[in-house]
Amino acid sequence: MKTLSQTKSRGWRRSWSFVAATTGATIGLGNLWKFSYLAGENGGAAFIIVYLVCILLVAMPVMIAEIVLGSRGRSNPITTVQDVSLEAGVSTWWQGIGWFGCFAGLLVLSYYSVIAGWSFAYISKLFAGDFDATSAQLAGDQFNAFLAEPQSMLEWQGLFLLIIFLTIAVGIRRGIGLLARLLMPLLFVTLIALAVYSSQVGDFQAAVNFMFTPDFSSLTRQGVLAALGHAFFTLSIGVGAMIAYGAYVPDKRSITSMVSVVVVADTLVSLLAGLAIFPLVFSLNIAPAMGPGLMFVAVPYGFGNMIYGNYYGALFFLMVSLAAITSGVALMEPATSWLSERLRWWRPVAALMVVAIVWLLGLASVFSFNEWKGISIAGMSIFSALDFFTANILLPAGGLLTAIFVGWKMRREVLRDELYVEGRVLFSLWYWVLRYIAAPGVLVVFLSSFLKEWV
Ligand code: PHE
Repeated sequence: MKTLSQTKSRGWRRSWSFVAATTGATIGLGNLWKFSYLAGENGGAAFIIVYLVCILLVAMPVMIAEIVLGSRGRSNPITTVQDVSLEAGVSTWWQGIGWFGCFAGLLVLSYYSVIAGWSFAYISKLFAGDFDATSAQLAGDQFNAFLAEPQSMLEWQGLFLLIIFLTIAVGIRRGIGLLARLLMPLLFVTLIALAVYSSQVGDFQAAVNFMFTPDFSSLTRQGVLAALGHAFFTLSIGVGAMIAYGAYVPDKRSITSMVSVVVVADTLVSLLAGLAIFPLVFSLNIAPAMGPGLMFVAVPYGFGNMIYGNYYGALFFLMVSLAAITSGVALMEPATSWLSERLRWWRPVAALMVVAIVWLLGLASVFSFNEWKGISIAGMSIFSALDFFTANILLPAGGLLTAIFVGWKMRREVLRDELYVEGRVLFSLWYWVLRYIAAPGVLVVFLSSFLKEWV
């Protein structure tokens, strides 16, 4: 039963290359910027524990499912699901998973590119010494002044999108492999160094208590939904990205072990980022629940008061920006690969088209911090509404559809054929968790948070 996959390209030859590219796709602003502010807003440890459970029981099995799907179809997410549904003898309407993913990915990228732009801007701000000997108050004021002025935000966002465009135009295998392989080890080292530094100058004990001593009474249903949504966001699933990357999975390697390495690395980076940021937050009396600005206030303060901190700080934001690039590419890959494979557009033209759409959509997020500040959707700014809607609803819904398709519609022998390196027990465990825990789990969280709102 190798018919489909035998006819298409076989991707990376080494598991290490695949792991590096996939780690690059998963580690990004989600780990460095979003994890800390979400944990801050939702009471810390209880949120983190629910998040870890969601990673293990829901997001990781779905990630394996997406890669298996990609490996079976060896094409862009839309064509892949279409081919695989034909093979499974079910309706080709399931290709909607691919469409849905492309759409969600572009929506995410529209605001993701804005935050990546902030990070770019902060490289130059720190390097220029703008935060030397700053106070928390000043760092906060500078952040607010930066948000109030759309012009430079637009320029930095544009630069980010230009870099993504150039990377993706040459194809992910060439463009991303090298970057990810250099970047990831460097990111680990920088984060460890920053965590050690901030444990010395900041309130490490308060940070550890906040992150690891749970108080479940502080966790709301919305917090549980946010934890689930973030598990999908951080592992880059629900947007078809892992279906697209699965098309390059190497032969004769264990998909589950490669995914495990990626998940462990991703989780470690988030926890390390928390350990780097929260000691500063607590020693400065910044409110952990201050929202998306948390990293952009606490980190510049930390570096601003350190010898040569402007250089280290610039390096930190450079890492954040590079990590955002490798993730941004993953967000764009499903739509770009579909345009170039299906419509036979030259890849750079397809990439340009996608970037242009994202840039236009991104204007709404940029202006939501200044000119359009007054507009609110369900009590949130346009930016927050986009973030909430994509991460907490679209991504888990996309993941749910994938779990149902792979777990209930594809034949077990076909899945076994893609996961043939795995032992029998491991394979059955994954299959069981995907069918009976991951898919119903998403439904339960959805129902419990939305029924509460509606009833
Ligand atoms: N996982 C990425 C991050 O944490 C974001 C992302 C989401 C990338 C979905 C691709 C697809 O920053």
